[in-house]
This record gives sequence, C-alpha cells and structure tokens, in this order.
Amino acid sequence: MDKIVIEGGERLEGVVHVSGAKNATLPVMAATLLAPGVYQLTNAPSLVDVRTMGKMLGVLGAEVEHHDHSITINTANCCTHEAPYELVKQMRASIFVLGPLLARHGKARVSLPGGCAWGPRPVDFHIRAMQDLGARVELEHGYIVAECDRLRGNTVHFDTPSVGATENTMMAASVADGTTIIENAAREPEIGAVGDFLRSMGAVIEGDGTDRITIHGVDELHAADAAIIPDRIEAGTFMVAAAITGGDVLLTGVRKEHCSAVIMKLKETGAVITEEELGLRVQGPVWAQAVNVTTAPYPGFPTDMQAQFMALMSVADGSSVITDTIYADRFAHVPELNRLGANINVDRNVAVVTGVKSLSGAKVMATDLRASAALILAGLVAEGWTKVSRVYHIDRGYESIEKKLAALGAKIERVRE
Ligand code: UD1
Repeated sequence: MDKIVIEGGERLEGVVHVSGAKNATLPVMAATLLAPGVYQLTNAPSLVDVRTMGKMLGVLGAEVEHHDHSITINTANCCTHEAPYELVKQMRASIFVLGPLLARHGKARVSLPGGCAWGPRPVDFHIRAMQDLGARVELEHGYIVAECDRLRGNTVHFDTPSVGATENTMMAASVADGTTIIENAAREPEIGAVGDFLRSMGAVIEGDGTDRITIHGVDELHAADAAIIPDRIEAGTFMVAAAITGGDVLLTGVRKEHCSAVIMKLKETGAVITEEELGLRVQGPVWAQAVNVTTAPYPGFPTDMQAQFMALMSVADGSSVITDTIYADRFAHVPELNRLGANINVDRNVAVVTGVKSLSGAKVMATDLRASAALILAGLVAEGWTKVSRVYHIDRGYESIEKKLAALGAKIERVRE
C-alpha cells in the first residue's frame, strides 16, 4: 500500500491547474445509460472513483475507454440492469445508476451501498423518489429491486437537499411521462452540470441551481458530449494549501463563483484572494486568524472542505468552532490531526479547535477521502516528516495530489511499499 511522505515547512508558490470535478463526472457517466449511443466526456479527472464508475458501466453492458482526460462511453448495447455489490461497495455514488436503469429498462437491481442500513445514512431519498415516479421498489437480499412500466412525472420533495437524490431524480424524470417537480432540491454546481448534460441529450429541465427543479419528461433522449466542470473541492483544497503555508499560488481552471463560501472564510483568516487574468491567486496570511465554520448545503460552506479547513484552523491564531450540519460524525481526521499536535475536541457534530503554534510530523492514517487531504495539508506545515498511510482514499478523489503539491515546492512524495 502506498504512503505519502511529506517534510513540512515549505512555502508553496506557483501555478496549479484544477482538474475536472469528480462529483460531476460520476452522475454524468451514469446519465449515459439513459440513451443508447456514443458519448465523449472531456476534462474528466483521472481518479479511482471515475474508473470504478467506468467498470460499473462496463458491467451494465457499456464500452468504456478512459484516455488521458477524456472518456468515451458507448451505451448502444446496454441490456443488463444489475449493479452488483462488488462494485457498489467500493463507491457509494454507484447508486446513480438506479434512476437511469429504471428509466431505460423499466427495471433495476442495484446493491445497497456497503455499510449502509435502510435506516439512518441511507439511500431512502433515492428510493422514495423512484416510488414517487411510480416505480415498485422492494429490498431483497441487500439489493434495491425496482420495476415500472414507464415512470410518471410527479412532485418529489426531499426532507433535506440531497445532491445524489436530486441528480438521480433528474435523470429518471427526464424520460418520465409528464412533468416532475423536485422541491427542496440540492443546488450544488454539480446539479447544474447534470442539468446541462441532460439538456444536451434532449431533456427539458428548468430551475436546476434553485431549490425547485421542473423536468418535463420527453419520450427519448440521445447521446451527447460533455465538458466536465472544474472540481471546486480540489480547488478549495489547494487554496487551503496556499493559506496554511503562507504561500502564493495561482489556481487555473477554477470557477470562482463555485468556491464563494470557501473564499469568504479564507479571506476572514487573512488570506488575500484575487481574480487575475489567468486564474485565482491565493496569498496566505503569515498567521491565519481563527474563524468559525458551519457546513451547509450549497451555497453554504461544503462539508467536503470541513476537514481541510480544520487543518488550517489547527495552526491558526485563536480558537475556532467547526460545526458539520450535513454529516454529524465526519470527524475521523480529528484524532489523526491531534497526533500531529493539534488541539481539537469534538462533541457530537461540533469541533472546537484551539490553534497551536506548530504541529510536529508523525505517522498518521488516512480514514477517508477528505480526511486524507486534511492530513497532507497539516503535513505541509508540521515540523519534520509526516507519513500518511492508506492513501488509496486520496486516489479516489484527487488527481496526483502529491505531484501537484511538489510542483508548488512542497517536499512530498509517494512511497510504494
Ligand atoms: C454528495 C457528494 C459528497 C458530499 C455530499 C454533501 C457526490 C458523489 N458526493 O454526496 O461528496 O459530501 O454530497 O455535499 O456528489 N441523505 C439521506 N437520505 C438519502 C440521501 C441523503 O438522509 O437518501 C442525507 C445524508 O445523510 C446527508 C444529507 O442528506 O445528511 C445530504 O447528503 P447528500 O447530498 O445526499 O450526499 P451525497 O449525494 O451522498
């Protein structure tokens, strides 16, 4: 298993290009199941999760070719409707195939994601939405088994805005009979990306990007191409990398308007962020000020940036309160940051971070994707060596993070064991 080894203390300087968004690529790939044909996706990130979705489409009968940053998908001969546990357990986002399979085949058999029950942290919104659209859904032997004649337009209301369930519903409703209205829809930029792609396939969708999305079902869709939007979470992670090292980094390929909440918080810490001709320039403060952060659905501060921001607050001047309102237990990075000398206490979904003057390098373990990023960020400023193990988590969502950071001057390398 690979490790990432960092010798802290280097100030980051230079230019970094932001890759395409994982969380836009995955639903867009799933949407290709909706209509037979050849699709070309460009600006796709080269990531393990993207390849896992490619394998999933392959199992469903598609031909998938990954090139450097493009993917060609041929869904002409997709006749399978079963998404097996072996793949779904590797990636929760596999649930995205539920809506497209139901819409195209009138049936879907999709494994429940690993580690999830029918109760809390479930995929209940996805299932209820399919039922609202007229599907009959049973749970059998760990699988969601859904059937319908043709999906029917309806009003779908989410208790809380769910990114994945909104996307699944948009895809399924695109070819339903009649009009679907999604109330309390998620508003993340990736929803807009899925909306744009579905429209280019012939779907009639209005209001994506707002909390009320209207989808007028059409009889059929056709293949189309998509250019994947930039990854706002990768961008935010590099912004924090600049801030935590007091560096000066120009991010290219980023969409500033997608990163507003993170930019605002970083400015409060003392970072100077300016829009330049070639991209977004982030100049880190000499010593970041502590600021409080509460995660919220977009356009609020993203839960996917909570761990990275906590790394910055670990070495900030003062104490900060970090609250995660999306995932109450998303704090697995805390004991690892504390191993590096941070002073963080968690009570339920609230972390109190008392800034320390310095961190000291240690062996730490990545526990999930964004936690891994937080540990690497902390390692950039920790004294001595930080060795982050289990980096397969980071490969799921960051393209060559160690190479990008090294190009900015970090002393970082991947060690194969
Ligand atoms: C997506 C992102 C993930 C991000 C999350 C929140 C992708 C592939 N992943 O995940 O990186 O952290 O949004 O911004 O886009 N919920 C339910 N029942 C459901 C679905 C969700 O109760 O059926 C709850 C969740 O537990 C959570 C909230 O709704 O509290 C939002 O989750 P959701 O937006 O669905 O997250 P994902 O789409 O899984």
